[in-house]
Amino acid sequence: MKPNNPSGTEQSSPGIPDSVRGLGELLRYVRTSLSDAGIASPEADARAIFGAATSMGPVDVIFRGDQEYSDEAGRTRLSEMLRRRLGREPLQHILGTAPMLGLELAVGPGVFVPRPETELLAQWAIDEARKLVEGGVGKPRIVDLCTGSGALALAIADAVPESEILAVELSEEALVWTRTNLVDCQARWGGEWVSLVHGDVTDLAALRADEALATWWGRTDIVVSNPPYVPDDAEVSAEVLADPHTAVFGGSDGLDVIRPMMNVVDGLLRDGGVVGIEHDDSSGADMARLLGADWNYNAVAVQPDLAGRDRFTVGVKPR
Ligand SMILES: C[S@@+](CC[C@H](N)C(=O)[O-])C[C@H]1O[C@@H](n2cnc3c(N)ncnc32)[C@H](O)[C@@H]1O
Repeated sequence: MKPNNPSGTEQSSPGIPDSVRGLGELLRYVRTSLSDAGIASPEADARAIFGAATSMGPVDVIFRGDQEYSDEAGRTRLSEMLRRRLGREPLQHILGTAPMLGLELAVGPGVFVPRPETELLAQWAIDEARKLVEGGVGKPRIVDLCTGSGALALAIADAVPESEILAVELSEEALVWTRTNLVDCQARWGGEWVSLVHGDVTDLAALRADEALATWWGRTDIVVSNPPYVPDDAEVSAEVLADPHTAVFGGSDGLDVIRPMMNVVDGLLRDGGVVGIEHDDSSGADMARLLGADWNYNAVAVQPDLAGRDRFTVGVKPR
């Protein structure tokens, strides 16, 4: 089945032809439309949109694929979601949520959509926090710099509820989403593990003057950060351009935020505390130099993602 306008991006309303009635046929139509428009993951996106619009899962399609889907409201929702995705709106904006380890976080325009690769950094921080708990540190103190939706802070809080976590974010628009996610998660957990500070991670003096951080200087066990790091001249997809520019780009070499942020990282960490910072896959050598040669951190290691690309760098503040 061919979509009305396979090129996608300029469509006003592709609609779904009335002749496409069966459950399986509808799912195939959505998948083919996305694939013909050059969407990178048409199968996964089609399933996600189809499930959100119709409340039908793969099992329904397997066992009832030949049956007609006659819910007009569901068809309209599916049509509208397909139109938005063909217009290159990020899937997560259409669904209204993005996954991060076990959590579903609210996202939309104004906040960076958490990416699967950041789960590796979250898992590293979780492992470090668990080691501290097992070693007798009752409440590991963890700071998430550039928290965005709260992805890292909340994933760590969910996995290690013993933690005390502080999250810092500059963008007012992003903070609306951070607060939503904090309130939602903490209401479900029945406790408050994460506090939020509106601040600039490149401005050590301003953060030093902020009362909310007063007890954290030199007493933080783990600093974790996924800052803006894409080099300015990198080519990015339409979906990445839907993220706020200040959430994505980090200057000519991608380290414009990271370099000054290291003053804050170092001020926060206790001696022997650890830091993990996500970065561009082209920045591994620069990051190793920054933490190792410039800051004299120990055990500096550039960690690869699942595709083997340099993804985040860790180090230990000297004692
Ligand atoms: C790549 S996003 C990551 C968001 C979140 N940590 C995640 O992993 O999904 C970077 C975030 O840093 C924030 N940011 C950019 N510059 C900042 C600064 N100077 N101080 C604090 N936050 C900043 C952006 O608004 C954005 O939310």
